Amino acid sequence: METKTKTGIGNPISRLEGKLKVMGKAKYSSEFSFENLAFAQGIQSTIASGRITAIDTSEAEKQEGVLKIITYQNALELKDYNGRFESPSTKGISPSLQTPEVHFYGEYIGVVVAETFEQARYAANLIKVTYAEDQHQTNFEEHLDSVYKPDKANGNPADTSWGDLEAGLNQAAAKIDVTYNTPIEHHHPMELHNIIAVWEGDNVTAYASTQMVENAVTTIAETFQMPKENVRVITPYVGGGFGSKLQLREHATLGIMAAKMVGRPVQLTVTRHEMFTAIGFRQHNRQRMRLGADKDGNLTAVGHDTTSHTSFTEEFQETCGLMTRMLYKTPNSLVTHRLMKLNLPSPRWMRAPGEAPGSFALESAMDELAHELGMDPAELRIQNDTQVDPSNDKPFSSRQLVECIRIGAKKFDWKNKWNPKPGHTQKDNWMVGYGMSASSRAAPYLKSSAEVTLKRDGDAVTAVLKTDATDIGTGTYTILGQTVAETLNLDIKDVQVELGDSKFPVSPGSGGSWGAASFANGSREACLNAINNLKTLASTDEDLTVAELMKQAELYELTATGTAAPTEEFDDYSVYSFGANFCEVWVDKDTGMVRLEHFVNVASAGKILNPKTAYGQIIGGITWGVGQALTEHSEVEPNHGNFITRSFADYHVPVNLDLGKIDVVFVPEEDYIANPMGVKGIGELGITSIAAAIGNAVFNATGRRVRDLPITPQKVITTPVTA
Ligand code: MOS
Repeated sequence: METKTKTGIGNPISRLEGKLKVMGKAKYSSEFSFENLAFAQGIQSTIASGRITAIDTSEAEKQEGVLKIITYQNALELKDYNGRFESPSTKGISPSLQTPEVHFYGEYIGVVVAETFEQARYAANLIKVTYAEDQHQTNFEEHLDSVYKPDKANGNPADTSWGDLEAGLNQAAAKIDVTYNTPIEHHHPMELHNIIAVWEGDNVTAYASTQMVENAVTTIAETFQMPKENVRVITPYVGGGFGSKLQLREHATLGIMAAKMVGRPVQLTVTRHEMFTAIGFRQHNRQRMRLGADKDGNLTAVGHDTTSHTSFTEEFQETCGLMTRMLYKTPNSLVTHRLMKLNLPSPRWMRAPGEAPGSFALESAMDELAHELGMDPAELRIQNDTQVDPSNDKPFSSRQLVECIRIGAKKFDWKNKWNPKPGHTQKDNWMVGYGMSASSRAAPYLKSSAEVTLKRDGDAVTAVLKTDATDIGTGTYTILGQTVAETLNLDIKDVQVELGDSKFPVSPGSGGSWGAASFANGSREACLNAINNLKTLASTDEDLTVAELMKQAELYELTATGTAAPTEEFDDYSVYSFGANFCEVWVDKDTGMVRLEHFVNVASAGKILNPKTAYGQIIGGITWGVGQALTEHSEVEPNHGNFITRSFADYHVPVNLDLGKIDVVFVPEEDYIANPMGVKGIGELGITSIAAAIGNAVFNATGRRVRDLPITPQKVITTPVTA
C-alpha cells in the first residue's frame, strides 16, 4: 500500500492525543464531574472461604455523609450473566452481593455510598462482619491431587497430541525433562479501574475504564435486566488495561447498583490496594517440558504439561501450551492443561495470556536442549522452523521467524559474542551472559465498524471518524487518524478521531492483539465507502480528490459507514506475528543481582501502521517481560489466604534504570491474507519470550538455571551451578 500523504500510514507521527494527556485535558472516566456526585467504597471480605452470618452497620450508618450501605441483605437482584462456572467467557461479571457466601479474601461483600470518598472509606472501616469460616484452599502445592481437565483452556482445546511423545523421547539423542514455575502476577495499569454511573429514569450512562465498550454495554444490560438501548458506555481514554479491563468487573456492578439505589450519580474507583483482588490476575503456572532431538537438532518430541488454578466462581485457564503447539515442527507432540480450584479471586486474561508464561517454559527448554546438544540456540530454532502450522497443517499467512532471528543476531553481533561456556566473560564483579529466544503470538482480525463524516468549506475538506474502539494507551487515535488521512488523501491535521462511546459504530474493542488490524480496516472501509458514495453523487469514475468530488457533487457534508470482517480465506491459514529476542545481562558475582545491559527485539508483524507507536508497544512489552523475569510476584499468605503484596512497595515493576538499552527492529512485511491492510498485531508479541531470553542469558553468565520466576538475587545465589 503506497503512502500518499506524509501523515498517512507507515509514518512515525506522534500521538494525536499526546498533548491533551500532557496537559491533563484528556478526560479519563474518573474525571467526569457531576453535580450531586456521590462516592462509593467497596467492603471486602476478611476470610477466604465461608459465609457471612451477621453484618453490623449501625456505627457506620451514623457517620456524617453516609447515604447508603448495601450488602447481600438489601442488594438489588442481579442476573448471573456470566453463568458463574461457565467456562471462560469475555462476557461478564459475577454479580456481587447476591449471597452471603465468601469465595476468596478481599471479595466485595458490600458497598458504602457517601457524600465524599473519605466519608465512604471511613464508614466502610466501621462495619463489623461476622463469618462462619470454612477451611480455605489457597495453597497450590497442597491441592495438586485435585486437578482436573477443563473443557477448554481460554477457548482452546485443553489437550492436543499427535504422534507418540514417549517414542519420540526414546529415539532422541538429547533430551530434557524439566519443570518451570511462573508466579501469580497482577496487571496494574496506571489508571485505576473506575466507574461513574448516572441513571436518568430507566437509562444508565456508565463512564467506565474498559477495553471493550460493546461488551460493557451487553454486560450491564444483561446483569441489570434492561434493554441494551438503555445503556450507554463512555470511555474516551483508558490508562492501560492489559486484559484487566476486557470485562467490567464487580466494582462496576456495585457502582451502577449504588447509583440506582441512592438516586444520584455515583463514582466507584478501585484503590491500588483493591486492585490485587478486584480485577483478576495471571495465575501461577507449573509447566513440565519434555523435549527430545536427534543429534542434528531436529526435534523428535515436544511435551508441555501445564498445571494451574482457577477460582470457585469461574473457570479460567491460560493456554500456556498455545505457542508450543505451533512454533516448531515435530513428529510427536503432547500439550496438556490442568486446573485446580482455589479460594483466590478468578484469574483473568493478562497481556499475552498463555504465551507470556508459556513462552518462558518453551524458550527456556529450547535453550536447555541446545545446551545438551552443544548447539547454538539460535541455530536450533532455525533448524526446527516450519512454514506449515504443525497443530492444524494450515500454512502460515506469513512467517518470517528465521528472518527475525537472523536480523536480530546480526544487530546483536550474536555470532561473535556467543560463547556456550558460562562464565566466559567477566567485567569487574559482573559476569556477562547472552541469551536469545523466539516468539510468536496469534494475530486475530475481527469484525469492526466505523463512521466517517466529511465536511467541505470551499476547497478544504475535514473528516471526523467515529468508532466505539478504545485507545488503551497504545495509539489507536493516531493510527486511525493516519488510516483516514491515507485513504482520503488528507493531512492528518484535517482529521478528527472520536473513540470509546457506545453510540458510535461497534468495534471488537481492544484486546488479544486484534485492535490495530480490526479498527484500521473498519475505518478504511468507511472511508472507501465515502469515496464511492461521492463518486456516485458526482457521477464520475475519475480518481479525483475528495474535495473535487464534493465540489462536483455540490456537497458540503457526507457521512458513510463501513465494516471490515475476515473473509472465509482467513480460516484457511494460521495467522501469527513472530519475533526474536537477544539480550545481554550482567550478574553480580556476590549478590546475584541481574542487570539488563542490552536488548534487541525483532518483530515481523505485517504492515506497521506507525513505527513510533509500534515501537512504544514493543518496549512496553519488553518492560513487562523484564518485570516478569526479574521482579514481579504476588504472594499469598497461607494462614488467611490473602495477598500480602498489596502495593508498589512490595510488588515491584521495572523502572527506567532497570531496562538498559533497547533496540527494536520491524521486518518489512505486508500480509494481505491477514487482512486488506496487511496488518498483524503486536500488542502481546512484545512481552512474549522476553523472560526466557533473560533467563537464558543469566544461565549463560553464571551456569545457574533458575526455573522459577522471578529470577531474584536470592534465587540466583541459591541455584546450583550446573554448567
Ligand atoms: Mo488482552 S490480555 O486480550 O488485553
